[in-house]
Amino acid sequence: MVKHDVKDLKLAPKGKKRIEWAETSMPVLREIRKRFEKEKPLAGKKMSACLHVTAETANLARTLKAGGADLVLVASNPLSTQDDVTASLVTDYGISVFAITGEDHKTYYDHIRAALKHDPVVTMDDGADLVSTLHQEYPEKCNQIFASMEETTTGVIRLRAMHKDGALQLPVYAVNDATTKYLFDNRYGTGQSTVDGIIRATDILLAGSTVVVAGYGWCGRGFATRCKGMGANVIVTEVDPIKAMEAAMDGFRVMPMLEATQYGDLFVTITGDINVLRKEHFENMKDGAIVANSGHFNVEIDIDSLQELAVEKHAQVRPLVDEYILPNGNKIFLLAEGRLINLAAAEGHPASVMDMSFATQALTTEFALKQKQPAGVYMVPREIEDYISTLKLKTMGIEIDELTEEQKEYLSSWEMGT
Ligand code: ADE
Repeated sequence: MVKHDVKDLKLAPKGKKRIEWAETSMPVLREIRKRFEKEKPLAGKKMSACLHVTAETANLARTLKAGGADLVLVASNPLSTQDDVTASLVTDYGISVFAITGEDHKTYYDHIRAALKHDPVVTMDDGADLVSTLHQEYPEKCNQIFASMEETTTGVIRLRAMHKDGALQLPVYAVNDATTKYLFDNRYGTGQSTVDGIIRATDILLAGSTVVVAGYGWCGRGFATRCKGMGANVIVTEVDPIKAMEAAMDGFRVMPMLEATQYGDLFVTITGDINVLRKEHFENMKDGAIVANSGHFNVEIDIDSLQELAVEKHAQVRPLVDEYILPNGNKIFLLAEGRLINLAAAEGHPASVMDMSFATQALTTEFALKQKQPAGVYMVPREIEDYISTLKLKTMGIEIDELTEEQKEYLSSWEMGT
């Protein structure tokens, strides 16, 4: 049996069904897997991936293995692992996994170390914890990395900061910044799965409630739009004037968070920044306000100050809901200890959208192995985006027009004016 540290191998049959169910909505990845099986573009390459270990990720792992990769998979968040999926990956698919739901901080990092001890030549990250640990604890291994892939906005921001500081020692592809990723996964994936996580955790009715969304990036706008579609009154808070204006012109109320605290029934942070909700905000919230985070790290809600402020805390009044009582008697409900709600309380993004994200990961891995680049943060090639979007449309049964010869000529000329 391959090396592993998972919760319980007996969960494998349930995990296998879940992986197969997800696969039915991942036709692009399936197509890539079929080709990888024949062509083996990753033959013999040691790979370590630090991702949310879900049924969708399992299908990416199968694809990479089909391409010939010798893969170790670890969790990119202690709460997002699906234990039945890890069991099946080890038992049914022979993929080495180190991930257990609810693992503590030490185990989380021990698992990341296990991935690095595998001596990968390719790494894949969701949030950059693998690359960051590599640079801090195993700097001598950086040289052997041919390429790395990064899945999420927060990770790309971290890696660009590393590069700016002159610290980044390897080439990283910003998979997050591919249109086939952020336009769909961040917007529709996060939008729907955040609603899903909040509803599963609380069973609240969105219609008629006031939802305050902090951050109007692709994830924030996806979530705000889904909430509006379900009948909520949505308020957006922003620090970026352009994004704030977009939110305003998309029809949302925009105001500072302190002002929004008097209206909100539900507050959701999706900014990628620290302490977006803090003491002065909690003090001003209505009785019964619900607070959740859908950003990558659990830093967006200042839980320490909520804890200090509260005169009483009742943990787990429902699964994943903690109640804090403030000195004025008001209750605030914090979901999933401020961890990303869509993966902690629901199952992450639906497979159909992860199909495009993980197709981008698989094809970028194949591309990256063709030529080693100097250290830096690189974009996914346009041809990969075009291939994936064309194939995805086809699998959705959607046909589009083609440019006529005359139109092509017109678009490449500059002489013809009014
Ligand atoms: N990130 C968001 N949703 C996900 C999912 N279903 N699987 C893996 N990573 C994800």
